[in-house]
Order: sequence, then C-alpha cells, then structure tokens
Amino acid sequence: MRIYREKDYAAVSRRAAAMIGSLILQKPDCVLGLATGSTPIGAYQKLIEAYQRGDLDFSAVRTVNLDEYRGLDGTNEQSYRYFMNHQLFDHVNIDKANTFVPDGMAADGEAAGRAYDEKIKSLGGTDLQLLGLGENGHIGFNEPGAFIAGTHIVKLTRSTIEANSRLFRDISEVPTQAITMGLWGIMTSREVLLVANGPKKAAALRGALYGPVTPDLPASVLQLHPNLIVVCDEAALPE
Ligand code: GLP
Repeated sequence: MRIYREKDYAAVSRRAAAMIGSLILQKPDCVLGLATGSTPIGAYQKLIEAYQRGDLDFSAVRTVNLDEYRGLDGTNEQSYRYFMNHQLFDHVNIDKANTFVPDGMAADGEAAGRAYDEKIKSLGGTDLQLLGLGENGHIGFNEPGAFIAGTHIVKLTRSTIEANSRLFRDISEVPTQAITMGLWGIMTSREVLLVANGPKKAAALRGALYGPVTPDLPASVLQLHPNLIVVCDEAALPE
C-alpha cells in the first residue's frame, strides 16, 4: 500500500489526476474503473484541463463505472450516467460507446449484474479502479454486512441514503436500491486508487487501512490488494 497524504482537496485532486493521466499516456487504450460522488470531481476537472491543453487523448480509453442507482435512467440528473457525462465524458474526446455504467433500469437486476461482469471480463479487466469512500466504509455501493463478489443489487443503508440526500431535493427522492460492481470487479483491477478527503471520512479511512479486514467495513478488503494507492488529505487521515 502506498499512501499520499496531501495538504488539501486541491492537492488530492492534482495527484489523483496525475496518476490517471500518466496511465492514459502509457496505455492510451487503458480500461479505467471510474467512480462518482463529490470526491473525484476535482480530479476529473484536472483531467479535463489536461485534455484541453492537448496533454491527454481519451479517444481509445475505455471506462467501467462502479455503480448506478436503481430506477434512474441516464437522462435523470441524479443518475450516475448523467454525472459521468457532465463531470467528464462530455468535456473530453472519449467515445461514449466505450463508457459503461451498470444498468439501473434493468428489470432483472441479477442478470444485469452478470452481464456487467462479462463486460468487464471482455475488456480484459480494469487497469486502474478509482474509488471514493462512504462514511460507513462502503466502496462503490458495497454496503457493510457482506463481501459480495459479483455485480449485484443492493439495498442502501440509512447512513448512505442520508449522506447522499444532500445531492437530492428531498431525502424521499433518494433511491433505496442500487446496482454495484462487487469485490471481484474491484479487487481484480491491476491498480486501485482510493481517494478521500475531509474529517467525515477519517474513521472509515483509518479502519479501512489499519483495522481488521471485515465485511462490516467493506473498504478494509483493499488491504489485500497488491497495488493499492491511497490519496487523501490530512483531515481524512489525521496523525
Ligand atoms: C456514493 C458512491 C460511492 C462514493 C460515495 C462517497 O455512495 N456510490 O462510490 O464513494 O458516495 O461519496 P463522496 O465522495 O461524495 O463522499
């Protein structure tokens, strides 16, 4: 595990973007596992700036996202497909046909999960998986309670619904289910880049990095990854 403890969010974003950008330079057709949430937004902004400067070319990059709310289609402003289009894809020269997000509208969620894992396999797995961290230690939408390998439907916990309600008009609008890549998809990535900032993440981050590996704190499984990189700020990892 390598930990980069940065002064603030801007520095976290710069370093995360530099790592993703250098992978794209080394492997123009890399497969990026991408994440939503507020934490990666700064890194996406830096990647857009690098593209605009002419320093990065996304034309051959493939992406697989971690998760999607159940019941929201890509035109819904709260969907993760919409988020990815607006925070990154619409601003770089990526071919959207090469960008994949789990299907939140599938009637048969289990079949959609299996199909998503087949898609990841057909791409040859991910080169780098970017991860944010839930306040309760979730990664993607792998909520506390069980380690589940495949992409699956999950019932969101109260804590996650409350944390994510800040992005909705009302907590009653937050979907109660999601479809998420499971630990197989995450742990088979050749590199994992976990980003976290702010004091609200401190307890989960400390537990994830230094506590026991337990389904009660899903991110703790990352300790077992051979190539885990953590980029966080001082508030998320106080001394
Ligand atoms: C959501 C996403 C996660 C993300 C988490 C933290 O629940 N499903 O992938 O890591 O939120 O979000 P934030 O970065 O906004 O704190």
